[in-house]
Amino acid sequence: MKEQEENKSEFQFLKDADPETLFENSRAFQNLMMMYNCAIREIKTKLEVLDDEFSIRYKRNPISSIKSRVKKPVSIYRKLKKNGLEISEENILNGIHDVAGVRVICSFIDDIYTVAGLLANQDDITVLRVKDYIKNPKSNGYRSYHMIVEVPVFFSKGKTPMKVEIQIRTIAMDFWASLEHQLRYKKDIEDVEGHEEISRKLFECAQTIAHTDQEMQEIKRMIGEFNDLS
Ligand code: GTP
Ligand code: MG
Repeated sequence: MKEQEENKSEFQFLKDADPETLFENSRAFQNLMMMYNCAIREIKTKLEVLDDEFSIRYKRNPISSIKSRVKKPVSIYRKLKKNGLEISEENILNGIHDVAGVRVICSFIDDIYTVAGLLANQDDITVLRVKDYIKNPKSNGYRSYHMIVEVPVFFSKGKTPMKVEIQIRTIAMDFWASLEHQLRYKKDIEDVEGHEEISRKLFECAQTIAHTDQEMQEIKRMIGEFNDLS
C-alpha cells in the first residue's frame, strides 16, 4: 500500500505535464539513454579487444564475462529525488554516475588490476573515481573494484563525454555479491529476526570466498613459474 502511494506521487508529474512537453521530454530521454547505451558499447569493445589480445599473447582470457545495463527510468528518477535534484538532462548527466553500468568478471584477482590498469591508461579514457573494495572491503564483506570513467562517444553533432560505472570482480566475488543482493533485496534484512546472525554468516562466506580467491591466485602463480621453466 505504502509502495503504491509512493508510486502514485512519484508519477504525478506525468499526469500534470502538458502532452506536447511530455512527448518532447520523452524523446530527449530516449536520446539520452541511447547515448548511454553507446558509451557502454565503447567500453565493452575496449574490454573485448584487451581480452582478445591477451588470449593470443598469453593463451588465456583474463575476462570471464561482461554484463551491462542502463539504469531503469524509475531508478534514475529515485536517485535524482534522493539527491534533491530535479529531472533534467543536465542533472542526469552531471548528477548520476551510474546510468551506464558495466560489470567485468575476471578469473583471478590480479586480472582485475591488469584490466583496470590497461583501461585507465587508454588516452581517451578519463578516470573520475576509483573505489577499491578489494583492498578495503566493505564492512559486510563486499569486494569489487569500482571505477567511474568518462569515454567520448562520437555522434553526428560531435563527441560527447559519457560517464560509465565499471565494476570489476572475480567470479567468486560476483557469486557472493549476486547472492547477497538477492537476499538483501527480497527482504530488508534489518527487519528479519536474527538479522545479526544472517549478516555474520554472509560476512563469513565473503571471507571464505576471499581466501579461496587468494589460494587460486597462488596456484596460478605456482603454475606460471612451472610453465616458465618448461
Ligand atoms: P550507489 O549505491 O549506486 O549510489 O553508489 P555509490 O556512489 O555509493 O557507489 P559504490 O561504488 O559504493 O557502489 C556502487 C554499486 O556497487 C552499487 O550500486 C552495487 O551495484 C554495488 N555494491 C556496493 N555495495 C554493495 C554491497 O554491499 N552488496 C552488493 N551486492 N553490491 C554492492
Ligand atoms: Mg548504483
